[in-house]
Amino acid sequence: MQNIDWSSLSFGYVKTNYNVRCYYRNGKWGELEISSSEQVSMHMAATCLHYGQEAFEGLKCYRGKDGKVRIFRWKENCKRLQSSAEAIMLAKVPDEIFKAACWKVVQLNKDFIPPYGTGGTLYLRPLLIGTGEKVGVGPADEYLFMIFVTPVGPYFKAGFKPVKMQLVRDYDRAAPMGTGHVKVGGNYAASLRAGERAHHEGFAASIFADAKTKQYIDEAGPANFFGIKDGKYITPDSGSILPSITNLSLRELAADMGLVVERRHVPIDEIGTFEEAGACGTAAVISPIDSIQDRENGTVYQIAKNGEPGPWCQKLYKRLTGIQFGEEEDKFGWCEFVDVD
Ligand SMILES: Cc1ncc(COP(=O)(O)O)c(C=O)c1O
Repeated sequence: MQNIDWSSLSFGYVKTNYNVRCYYRNGKWGELEISSSEQVSMHMAATCLHYGQEAFEGLKCYRGKDGKVRIFRWKENCKRLQSSAEAIMLAKVPDEIFKAACWKVVQLNKDFIPPYGTGGTLYLRPLLIGTGEKVGVGPADEYLFMIFVTPVGPYFKAGFKPVKMQLVRDYDRAAPMGTGHVKVGGNYAASLRAGERAHHEGFAASIFADAKTKQYIDEAGPANFFGIKDGKYITPDSGSILPSITNLSLRELAADMGLVVERRHVPIDEIGTFEEAGACGTAAVISPIDSIQDRENGTVYQIAKNGEPGPWCQKLYKRLTGIQFGEEEDKFGWCEFVDVD
C-alpha cells in the first residue's frame, strides 16, 4: 500500500507505477505493453498534434465494502471509445484489448486503489491518438492506445452540496452535426473559454444552450443535465451531447425507483419549474444544481431549497455509489471484479 494521504486526494494527477500501451501499425493492433514512463514519444507530424485525432475515456475502479475491486460498466466506455474512433477516423480498439488493458493497469497499480471508506477511487484514463505522421490533412496510419490511472478523492470534500451554474449562449462546445456526441479533445478545447469565464464569475460550471436554436439545454460543462419534477426524471435529447454512462445508469435507477424517465428537448424556460436538477458524470456522479444564471439576461433560476440537495438527487446518488462500492445489490450487473490479490 502506498504512503498516500487518501483523505486529501483531489481530482488530479498522482504518479503511479505503470501504464499500459498498445500500438496499431501495419493495419493491426500489437501486444499490450507495460510502461513505467510518464512520457509519450511520437513523430512531430503525428495527426493527434495537428488534426485533433484524439479520443479519450474516463471510468473508475472501486475498492468495495467487501474488499473486492470493481470496475464499473467498462463495456459502455469501450463502446463509446469505438464510436469516437468511428467519428474521427481513428483505428478502433477491440473489446478484448480494451478490457485486457483495464484489468492489467489496475492489477499493476493495485497499491494505488484508495481503501474503502475514504470515498476515493482509482480513475482510469484510456487515450487513443493518431501517432502516424501526416502533413496533408488525413487520418494517420499508426495509433497508440494507452491507459494510465490516478487515484482520485471524493468529488465533494465538504459533502454533497448544490452548486451554482451559468447558462451560456455566446459559446458553443459542439456543432449540431459535429462531434459533440463523442469524447474527442476538440470538444473540450472549444468549451474551455466558457468554463473558465464561468469559474471566474463565481460559478461551478457553464451550461451550454443548443448550438442551433439556443432555446434548449444541451450539456452541463463536462456532464449531462437532468431535472426532476412531477415524478419524472427529465434529461435532454440532443445529437450534440456526450451520452453519459452515469446518466444512462441514473435513468435505469430512476425508472427502477418509480420515476418516469423522459429524454426530450428541455427548453431553457422550463428550468424554473424543476423541483431538483443535477449535472451527472463519472467524476462527481451527481452535482446537484443550486441555481442557474442565464448570463445573457441575468435571470436566476433557483432550484435547490436552502442550499440542500433534493431527496431524489440524494436517493439516486446513494443508490449508484452504493452499487459501485458494493454496499447495495448490483442487480443490473454493472460491476465486474478485478482479481488483484
Ligand atoms: C462533455 C461530457 N459530458 C458528459 C460526461 C459524463 O459522462 P460519463 O457519465 O460517462 O462520465 C462527460 C464525462 O465523461 C463529459 O466530458
